[in-house]
Amino acid sequence: MTSPILIVGAGVAGLYTALKLAPRPVTVVTARPLGEDGSSPWAQGGMAAAVGENDSPHLHFADTMEAGAGLVDPDAARMLVDAGPETVADLERYGVKFDRDAAGKLKVGREAAHCRDRIVHATGDRAGAEIMRALIVAARQSAHIEILERVVVEDLLTDDNGAVAGVLAFIVEEGRRVSMEASETILATGGLGGLYAVTTNPKPAQGHGLAFAARAGAIIRDPEFVQFHPTALDFGEDPAPLATEALRGEGATLVNADGKPFMQRYHRDRDLAPRDVVARAVEEERKAGRGAFLDARGIGPDFPEMFPTVFAACARHQVDPREGLLPVAPAAHYHMGGVLTDMQGRSSLDGLSAVGEVASTGVHGANRLASNSLLEAVVFGAAIAERLKSAPLVIRNDAGAPEDRFDLAPKPADPALMARLRKAMSDGAAVVRTEESLNAALDAINDLNQHPLKTSGLKSALASAELIVQGALMREESRGGHYRADFPETAEEPMHTEICLAETAELEWEEELS
Ligand code: SIN
Repeated sequence: MTSPILIVGAGVAGLYTALKLAPRPVTVVTARPLGEDGSSPWAQGGMAAAVGENDSPHLHFADTMEAGAGLVDPDAARMLVDAGPETVADLERYGVKFDRDAAGKLKVGREAAHCRDRIVHATGDRAGAEIMRALIVAARQSAHIEILERVVVEDLLTDDNGAVAGVLAFIVEEGRRVSMEASETILATGGLGGLYAVTTNPKPAQGHGLAFAARAGAIIRDPEFVQFHPTALDFGEDPAPLATEALRGEGATLVNADGKPFMQRYHRDRDLAPRDVVARAVEEERKAGRGAFLDARGIGPDFPEMFPTVFAACARHQVDPREGLLPVAPAAHYHMGGVLTDMQGRSSLDGLSAVGEVASTGVHGANRLASNSLLEAVVFGAAIAERLKSAPLVIRNDAGAPEDRFDLAPKPADPALMARLRKAMSDGAAVVRTEESLNAALDAINDLNQHPLKTSGLKSALASAELIVQGALMREESRGGHYRADFPETAEEPMHTEICLAETAELEWEEELS
């Protein structure tokens, strides 16, 4: 039924990898109809690439290294930034329409911790949706790509040697579970913001792919590094609409309820300080009762054309950002940790690759530089495709994940139980953590693990939540997106956390940097 190469997930990472595998046949499975899945279509910021005047991959590299707080892999970062300009051109060849000025030059915007204007946008704040539109058209027209929609992957199959041999999946329309065998399985399952009560991610982003890989025995790196976006719109919507950082790049400022700017008290770069610093500042102002708002009135009458997604979110709540302040809160936004991969996307398990947010390629370190993630998905997807395009494909004998290990149907997590998990994660493992708060989150996870209503969806969500919490307990320092109020200092020696459930339940610190 399937091709020897199977991609789980049909966001930018999955589709671009599939396209680049041509002419090798590939099957892409997606839990929902194509285009309705994952965070990619929601990406507002755009794609970072050194295409502007006075910019260079070298400057982009320096900003990426600086943002990552000592844990960026320089080789991976170099590969990312060097590929930036050509990647933008390649996406245009697939039909992506990036915004250009009257002279036909790519328009570039600024986001936090970039020393140059280097974010390319599409239709203002709709870069993700535009890239997805073009890639979906291209994928549907490609004879080598088979797309299976409404197929819910529940786990990985492994062979006698521990290699990944495909997936166990539930075909929603047929109401049956199948083993889909594959020589090479590529996880492109996205992130896990949906594990938190306040998130900018679609709710199904609950780290299922990370859990599959961990259960199969893959090394998971730095799961504690969750990036909180400082300016989710606090209108009570779930998920919380994002107010893109590009607004601050265009001059919007963070202010208290009394209209006074506050970022000068936290960082010399003020509103364009690194994202983790801004998130903690917003959290602190809110906790102190001063409130946090984005003052975007200076953007003026062009706001609806420049930021149509943000404008529409405000309109749903009868707020006009040209006239009023926008209430903001930090929200779980991006997972920097993930399945450890090398620069060609290989995980520690034979037969398993990972790409996009589920992977830890080393380019983000402890704090992702804004808008580097769409670029990462594309650059590393191309690298996986290049490796697998002509590689001999191994026949693997499936010996794992028997079909009776799950309930009759892959029910999503019970909303009440999921709400308990999300609250526990937001209370205990969010912007500011302590041993006590993390242990409270762990207690809640352990309780939920005993619950009789535990479905396959909840099981995977709990596994990913536990990886985050365990990693955060082990990291007794503060670095990038991980802040421990009981260990506020940054250790001199930057180290990765690596967790391998196959070898030991114990967590291991591994020194990676010389
Ligand atoms: C944003 O638009 O602020 C988000 C961009 C990103 O997370 O890279």
